[in-house]
Amino acid sequence: MRDCEWPAFEPYKTKMVEAIPITTASQRRAAAERAKYNLFKLRAREVTIDLLTDSGTAAMSDRQWSRIMLGDESYAGAESFLVFQDTVRRITGMQQVLPTHQGRAAENLLFTAMVKPGDIVPNNMHFDTTEANVITKGGQALNLPCGEASDITADKPFKGNMDTERLEQVLTEHKGEVPLVIMTVTNNSAGGQPASMANVREVSRICHRHKVPLFLDCARYAENCWFIKHREPGYHDKSVEDIAHEMFGHADGALMSAKKDAYVNIGGFLAMRNHELKMKVAEYMVVVEGFVTYGGMAGRDMEAVAQGLQEGLDEQILTARIGQVTRLADRLTELGIPTLQPAGGHAVFLDVKRMLPHIPQSQLPGQALTVELYLEGGVRSVEIGTVMFAHADPETGEMLYPDLELVRLAIPRRVYSDNHMEHVARTCRCVLDRAEKIRGMRFTYSPPRLKHFLAHFDWVQ
Ligand code: F0G
Repeated sequence: MRDCEWPAFEPYKTKMVEAIPITTASQRRAAAERAKYNLFKLRAREVTIDLLTDSGTAAMSDRQWSRIMLGDESYAGAESFLVFQDTVRRITGMQQVLPTHQGRAAENLLFTAMVKPGDIVPNNMHFDTTEANVITKGGQALNLPCGEASDITADKPFKGNMDTERLEQVLTEHKGEVPLVIMTVTNNSAGGQPASMANVREVSRICHRHKVPLFLDCARYAENCWFIKHREPGYHDKSVEDIAHEMFGHADGALMSAKKDAYVNIGGFLAMRNHELKMKVAEYMVVVEGFVTYGGMAGRDMEAVAQGLQEGLDEQILTARIGQVTRLADRLTELGIPTLQPAGGHAVFLDVKRMLPHIPQSQLPGQALTVELYLEGGVRSVEIGTVMFAHADPETGEMLYPDLELVRLAIPRRVYSDNHMEHVARTCRCVLDRAEKIRGMRFTYSPPRLKHFLAHFDWVQ
């Protein structure tokens, strides 16, 4: 066996197991009907393989669990905060660190301090809570994905990049109206695709020339850095940790949902270089989130995040993790199932337009596919298409549909085996085999915002 092939398996073994619910087809039919065909409304125990999200669903390590016992629960100045702060400072190089209970709390705090009505916040692509938090402050959330992002079959290495020409144009034409620019790494809404170091560097150069701070939405930064190591010339011999230092070095601040690349069930942070800005954020933070040395977290949570951040940079763990996602994508391709190419770091995205070409977007084909995957194999996925993004043109009232109609299969970290993924792949194939018989769906209840969480559906007759 050659050294480079070793190890070709996960660098951990199982110490505790959790039973998976096995259901019958009639139980799943009844559950889906009761949930009004919105899979967010299912009970978790009705789901066999839960690929709704990779957020907060990771298996923690024995070291993380043991650190939980060391949690210092003092209200102020807890030892656990100092450990947490040291780790975030070491990885990001940013000295001002504020813990938050999850990513969207960090968004709310940062934008309350920085965004005023009429402002524009550019991002390679906003995650939906990030967008909602910009809008709630009266700002405009502007997506500037690179051209390749919407080409579903283009097998390009860095489809998560930002369009730097458009960024330059926006910053020139809207002087004084852009309080910050955000780069989301990896780019979740564009299929979990990475941004290259060259792109982050160029975005940073443009921002700094216009004196606008750059923040990284770094929920999946370690996966992004792993892709840089393996895809970008000049980085192969660098460690993922060194690549992360370089990437954070281009930014003025970072906001993180630790529920992804820090392998925890809850947690997050805001980090920045500017002390004045931190003090401004802290004023509001104490009102809504908690004192500056715990945010919304218990001391034990901060211990688990500190340990998880370190494990999240382990290259063998990252190789096993991204390898599993890639293997699922390859298996789907082998079975003739169309997916967004290449696979993302945390998820595989099914191309609904090619799977269910007979259902128009007005009849919510992505939602129909999520329901069918559940009915077929007890697999829970999430629609990233018409339900999530379609909206009426404010002037004409005409419905505007997203270019891409996707269903995301997000893989929790260290949770499922490749046998579980084989069940997912076969479930997709069985659904595809009876695709022409699948009907579209309609809303029976449709809230004005963040519809996918709360809407109700039924089949089109
Ligand atoms: N930023 C990105 C890129 C995200 O993917 C998420 C969450 C957040 C911010 C918000 O963080 O959930 O801790 O408040 N993404 C999850 C998902 C929910 O399923 O993709 P949070």
